Amino acid sequence: MEITIIGTGYVGLVTATCFAEMGHIVTCLDVDEEKIKMLNAFNIPIYEPGLEELVKKNKNRLFFTTDYKKAIKNALVCFICVPTPSREDGSCNTSYIEDVAKTIGSLIDDYKIVIIKSTAEVGTSYRVKNIILEELKKRDLKLDFDVVSNPEFLKEGTAVADCLKPDRIVIGTENERATEIMKEIYHGFTLKHDRLIVMDILSSEMTKYAANAMLATRISFMNEIANICEKVGANINNIRKGIGSDSRIGYSFLYAGIGYGGSCFPKDIKALCHLAKKKGTKASLLETVDDINTNQKKVLANNIIRFFSKNGGIKDKVIAIWGLSFKPDTDDMREAPALTFIEMLLEKGAKLRLFDPIAMEKAKKLFKENKNIIWCKDENHAAEGSDAIALLTEWKQFRLLNFNPIKKIMKTPILFDGRNQYHPIDMKKRGFKYIGIGIPNEIDN
Ligand SMILES: NC(=O)c1ccc[n+]([C@@H]2O[C@H](COP(=O)([O-])OP(=O)(O)OC[C@H]3O[C@@H](n4cnc5c(N)ncnc54)[C@H](O)[C@@H]3O)[C@@H](O)[C@H]2O)c1
Repeated sequence: MEITIIGTGYVGLVTATCFAEMGHIVTCLDVDEEKIKMLNAFNIPIYEPGLEELVKKNKNRLFFTTDYKKAIKNALVCFICVPTPSREDGSCNTSYIEDVAKTIGSLIDDYKIVIIKSTAEVGTSYRVKNIILEELKKRDLKLDFDVVSNPEFLKEGTAVADCLKPDRIVIGTENERATEIMKEIYHGFTLKHDRLIVMDILSSEMTKYAANAMLATRISFMNEIANICEKVGANINNIRKGIGSDSRIGYSFLYAGIGYGGSCFPKDIKALCHLAKKKGTKASLLETVDDINTNQKKVLANNIIRFFSKNGGIKDKVIAIWGLSFKPDTDDMREAPALTFIEMLLEKGAKLRLFDPIAMEKAKKLFKENKNIIWCKDENHAAEGSDAIALLTEWKQFRLLNFNPIKKIMKTPILFDGRNQYHPIDMKKRGFKYIGIGIPNEIDN
């Protein structure tokens, strides 16, 4: 089938590539000319494990363009994968989707299915339908078309695998014709297991928000328990094992840390809270989830500031930062807890030595020239002459380090572990002062 993907970012490019892998002919459209130029040279503008190889493998079925007319003409289906960022008031900004809908309405001249893959406020699909109808009316055209909601559940870092083998494919449709075409599109993904869940459009849109809200709630829940653990002398790592073993709870998403980030959870939780309010109800639990997360992003920096307040003050202390992206295996810096952390420590006059295995280039674009920021070539370089290390992102390469040489190049061997990656007793044995999250520590004693 000929498919057009509108918006060639993390979701659009991965989806397009996986469709091409299944044999579809896919045209990727983007308004970003630089991105399309790169992709036409098979340079991949984002880091996602396995993506580059798969794009190259499918280059005969993948096309990249900025030309809407060309992209829409031959395709039976158009997937909308454009951004839906937060507005100032927390609501979901659907203007990118609406712009695309207008363009589609002004260009189509035969039956199409318009599929909304972006995470969009509940009700957006119907708005898109009306926008297309208005555009057709302007052109005095009566054309048949369908709008479908098909939210995306891939996770950055494992996006290709998630997309090729999704847990489920949620489809919100209004009629059998669109449902049948959606089944055909996803046929290659559902051969072994029927992963399609077909429902009404509004429930499909809401399913995506509910999934992200549930996951974010688990994270904030664990962070809240972690903060209590520190006060009562319990260890959150033990609590995680103790409750995760309950089959009703399970182990996933039970890690305490420095809060969730990325381009989805923060904006989607805010958007759902805003939508609830707009509809005359209150999402009290989710507002709290969001508040807990905002505070949690500050916990590690506050620990460091408190620790050094009793040890000569934080000003001019050198802090090595390991990891910048919001999670491992991605270069995505959107809403990364590292941003809050760096801002807080710079404000207090600390000197920062930054390293991330993949996100350095994206991170550099976010900070102005600053004499207190030094970009380092690896984790050892970052640790050189430092008063403490702060682990912000749990990249695998940081897991099994030899800490003996690292200890020697540091000024003082202190490790603030924002992701509870190391064992407190092991680190103590190696001569480090260790401060994790939700683990009794010596800062306040
Ligand atoms: N990133 C994720 O992990 C993830 C997962 C599930 C769902 N989502 C949702 O998918 C949507 C896209 O997210 P993303 O992370 O891929 O965003 P992104 O910013 O990486 O990519 C969006 C792309 O759309 C392009 N674009 C903007 N306006 C356009 C227009 N009018 N026409 C054509 N292209 C246009 C941008 O240039 C950009 O390349 C969002 O709604 C997001 O919430 C994201």
